[in-house]
Amino acid sequence: MASTEFLSFVPIFSELPNETLEKIEKIGTRKSYKKNDVILMEEESGTALFVIVTGKVKVARCSNDGREVILTILSDSDFFGEMAILDGLTRSATVTSLEGTELFLLQRNDFMNLLHEHPEISVALLQELTKRLRAADMKIKALSLKDAEGKVATVILQLADDIGKIKQGKVEIDKLPLQQDLANMAGTSRETISRTLHSFAKKGLVELEGSKLKILDYEKFKGMFI
Ligand code: CMP
Repeated sequence: MASTEFLSFVPIFSELPNETLEKIEKIGTRKSYKKNDVILMEEESGTALFVIVTGKVKVARCSNDGREVILTILSDSDFFGEMAILDGLTRSATVTSLEGTELFLLQRNDFMNLLHEHPEISVALLQELTKRLRAADMKIKALSLKDAEGKVATVILQLADDIGKIKQGKVEIDKLPLQQDLANMAGTSRETISRTLHSFAKKGLVELEGSKLKILDYEKFKGMFI
């Protein structure tokens, strides 16, 4: 892969000409993380924006009694860390690698200069943040209004959007997070996740094989629960 190619897949940079991508590549640095490394922590101050070159991370918050709520899982070409950079407040969540992960870091000043020099990055950033707000709204609805099936389905649909591969109306999620992580995303228990996934499989809505999950008719599944 050319050294700038990964940047052309990042939604906020994808419309930029090659020479701008080369400039961005030069002002950033790369850093590798092992599985389960804490990349940044809730409440600390933020000095950089991160782009995932390869790998997967979870974005989570902890309740006072130590329970974890996973807000989202991000993978190749996603970015994070923009919130503390933009509003100057502390990090809104803790980000931890779920597997070996390579990140590209842009320091706050460099990123802010890019936003001023290339307004198209700001527009793309607004679009991406809007997408995240819609996903968060969907989750609030699921957590407050839905029964267990609705909560689990919402999480599966979110994962399908984030890390799924679409093929002829089916969506395949290659590496489903651990059941405890799914429970922390859905605000329910590990037992409920297990029971509900098996009930979906029995009804012919999904296929489960090891850590692989396939939604057999994505549109139908979405229509049933959203
Ligand atoms: P920041 O607050 O700087 O550090 C934690 C990061 O997690 C945050 O920026 C966002 O990039 C990311 N993040 C927080 N909440 C969400 C969410 N609901 N969906 C996607 N990403 C999020």
